[in-house]
Amino acid sequence: TPLDKIRNFSIIAHIDHGKSTLADRLIQTTGGLTEREMSSQVLDNMDIEKERGITIKAQTVRLNWKGHVLNLMDTPGHVDFAYEVSRSLAACEGALLVVDAAQGVEAQTLANVYQSIEHDHEIIPVINKIDLPAAEPEMVRKEIEDVIGLDASNAVMTSAKSGIGIEEVLDAVIERIPAPKGDLGAPLKAMLVDSWYDPYLGVVILVRVIDGKIVKGQSIKFMAAGTTHLIDRVGAFTPKIETLADLGPGEIGFITAQIKDVAQARVGDTITDSKKPTAEALPGFKEVQPVVFCGLFPVDAADFDKLRESISKLRLNDASFSFEMESSAALGFGFRCGFLGLLHLEIIQERLIREYDLDLITTAPSVVYKLVLSHTKNEDAKTIELHNPADMPDINRIQSIEEPWIEATIYAPDEYLGPILKLCQDRRGIQKNLTYVGGRAQLTYELPLNEVVFDFYDRLKSMSKGYASFDYHQIGHREGDLVKMSILVNEEPVDALSMIVHRGTAETRGRGMVERLKDLIPRHLFKIPIQAAIGGKVIARETIAAMRKDVTAKCYGGDATRKRKLLDKQKKGKLKMREYGSVSIPQEAFIAALRMG
Ligand code: GTP
Repeated sequence: TPLDKIRNFSIIAHIDHGKSTLADRLIQTTGGLTEREMSSQVLDNMDIEKERGITIKAQTVRLNWKGHVLNLMDTPGHVDFAYEVSRSLAACEGALLVVDAAQGVEAQTLANVYQSIEHDHEIIPVINKIDLPAAEPEMVRKEIEDVIGLDASNAVMTSAKSGIGIEEVLDAVIERIPAPKGDLGAPLKAMLVDSWYDPYLGVVILVRVIDGKIVKGQSIKFMAAGTTHLIDRVGAFTPKIETLADLGPGEIGFITAQIKDVAQARVGDTITDSKKPTAEALPGFKEVQPVVFCGLFPVDAADFDKLRESISKLRLNDASFSFEMESSAALGFGFRCGFLGLLHLEIIQERLIREYDLDLITTAPSVVYKLVLSHTKNEDAKTIELHNPADMPDINRIQSIEEPWIEATIYAPDEYLGPILKLCQDRRGIQKNLTYVGGRAQLTYELPLNEVVFDFYDRLKSMSKGYASFDYHQIGHREGDLVKMSILVNEEPVDALSMIVHRGTAETRGRGMVERLKDLIPRHLFKIPIQAAIGGKVIARETIAAMRKDVTAKCYGGDATRKRKLLDKQKKGKLKMREYGSVSIPQEAFIAALRMG
């Protein structure tokens, strides 16, 4: 396809503003699929994406409109996947900014718009859901101009649901978004935009060609990974799989090259011809690093192998999460897993439970701490990364602990501002900015990620009746007065419950934890102290009183069958318990205790 007939664009939108519905309409209008094939939203193709309404993996669809090839890239709509968003944006020359006519601009929209502007995109504002009775398109138009600073005088008004304004959107893409640039004669240079595992095609790689041409049979090289592969298929999604002879400059499509593992095809890598390589790789390749870690353990120890298999399968499709075996005295064998963020964690956890039918225990999520250790007789001073509070080294060796901080942008209607400020303050936040735009507050806070991974987002949503939106990026590690808090049940530390906390909030957290455990652990024949401790110092304590008499005493002495029944029942009950020293802790206790109060 000649360059001047190509347009590459993405859609930027806040969750629920109608991105997928609009994408479906664009596909339908350009004839990519028949009405019947459109029966379900096509771009969101994973069940969980559909249910939660969240786009996870970027996908691309090639559309034909008035003699042009339009490549529509779907981008993930959540902060955890910021790097994937950035790569998709880098593969485009423009974007549709979809804003709900009844909701207006939200924090997530802003973050993505700024990224898009950084990529020098031509941005076309699209005001969607104009069919809603609560729609205020003129107000939203003004908001786009005031808040984002974009000219919205020629915003396209749409109702993706009723099919209004769809052709206008397509025309605007051709008229306003610039054609890509590139040199067909130069050596191949292409960006690896995304990769995923497809049961029929194997590992599929989405590419954006910058210069040169990519063809079947070509020997290519991944410049960052340093590997070479032979291309066995070149094509595009319309959204059906269509095989193409080649992809030239400016084009977006997929290739397969008998790659076994998505981890070999990393987003952001530069693809070139191995025999005639390009002189310089594309800038900005970055390996994504997990930022939140937690342990995943099977409830039933016999499920360990099944868990291993399931995690390995999921990982085939998502190279951004990591796992390694872990054993815990309380929970047995499981895996320490790393995620891009909390949502990512929840998605993987939910897929394991739902698609692989596993019962899981998740330990407290932890961020990555940097520990500066002093030297010992045998070892020099060094800095280590700590992913698991259970691995905390000897306290006397720790000179300082640094924790990751984020800058968060929160957008919320005025009336919820009070409680939100308090929440941020309670979580050790530092207020950076507070401005008002059209009855809504825009707040900027610096916060320790540690304080956000527990339940910050849920709280924010519930205290604002769902109206607050939240976005963040990491701003580096800072030293903090951090300590490891251990939980002891009957004088024994329970590793799965230990966590790193700020000294200032340790007591509140410790108290909450022991109080909850007191209610969750059943009485035994002896009394059980439950303690929260820092180093050797107990900071909170509760005691579960001993059971007063033997349960079987209730059975009026003689009735043997009754007695046996009761014992059987106890045995069954026990299956769901974890024996810990001499104490049995029910599974729910772990989950409930970790839910922060
Ligand atoms: P993510 O995939 O999570 O980013 O969400 P999305 O932006 O793709 O939103 P989606 O297209 O799934 O739409 C969210 C909801 O808004 C759905 O219930 C749609 O039916 C509805 N919706 C989308 N467009 C319109 C519209 O023009 N009018 C009305 N009334 N509803 C719409």
